[in-house]
Amino acid sequence: MQAQPLSLPAVPEPTYGERLKDKVVIITGAAQGIGEAIVACFQAQQARLVIADIQAEKVEKVAAHWRERGAEIYAQPVDITSNEQWQSLVNLAIARFGRVDVLVNCAGVNVFRDPLQMSDEDWRRCFAIDLDGAWFGCRAVLPHMIAQGIGNIINIASTHSSHIIPGCFPYPVAKHGLLGLTRALGIEYAPKGIRVNAIAPGYIETQLNVDYWNGFADPHAERQRAFDLHPPKRIGQPVEVAMTALFLATDEAPFINATCLMIDGGRSVMYHD
Ligand SMILES: NC(=O)c1ccc[n+]([C@@H]2O[C@H](COP(=O)([O-])OP(=O)(O)OC[C@H]3O[C@@H](n4cnc5c(N)ncnc54)[C@H](O)[C@@H]3O)[C@@H](O)[C@H]2O)c1
Repeated sequence: MQAQPLSLPAVPEPTYGERLKDKVVIITGAAQGIGEAIVACFQAQQARLVIADIQAEKVEKVAAHWRERGAEIYAQPVDITSNEQWQSLVNLAIARFGRVDVLVNCAGVNVFRDPLQMSDEDWRRCFAIDLDGAWFGCRAVLPHMIAQGIGNIINIASTHSSHIIPGCFPYPVAKHGLLGLTRALGIEYAPKGIRVNAIAPGYIETQLNVDYWNGFADPHAERQRAFDLHPPKRIGQPVEVAMTALFLATDEAPFINATCLMIDGGRSVMYHD
């Protein structure tokens, strides 16, 4: 039996406003899940958006949806493991809007393997997407941000960036690296007016986790187990991550740099779970 759609406590819809008015934002992993929620949240605050994903049709559909509702938004199919494709994505933002204020590195994959059974290909795929891809993005936007004298990078890391759950190798190794990248670049470029931060979501209701539950004999029981692990007795929703990304992307967080905001309902603070 497949896991049923989740029924979770309501989280407020992002309200319409001008918190990102005139800011040019690039978002990867925008075709679904957390990335798609960030797009929805940012367009509601009048960001000018360039969104990317390896799923070409799906990311264009997301852009078309918001464009029809008045958003300034362009989509481009991009494999974030390619430097050339990053360059062309940033070129699109510059050609359309003349600058890049915010980069949200959200694209990522779960690679959960037994360490000694894992192929070299799986190791490389995990690092290529979960770490190299974000670095290539930073490297592509930083020259523009330095020239502007202002910029803001948000890396979607994970609770796996600082905690280890058995059976998830090598994903946490790459996500620890992403946190290191965030700190290193945050320190390196702070004098140039650039902030680099990470967000560490815990268990968030996306397709990625629905697929994971459906891999168990009893997906319902596995979903319930996930709920029970968390102090609020539920897991998170993509919009909750998006609202945190929004806060970091605005000018409301000017002294927050080289850090990581955890969004896990407090789970990682508990001694036992
Ligand atoms: N869902 C969670 O519980 C959770 C928890 C912690 C961290 N995260 C992180 O949040 C981010 C988004 O996760 P999600 O749950 O929305 O997953 P998701 O699978 O729904 O979305 C990930 C997106 O990244 C895209 N993508 C994958 N490889 C790509 C590539 N090479 N180039 C461009 N795009 C690519 C996919 O097509 C997809 O649209 C990931 O970095 C993930 O590691 C998720």
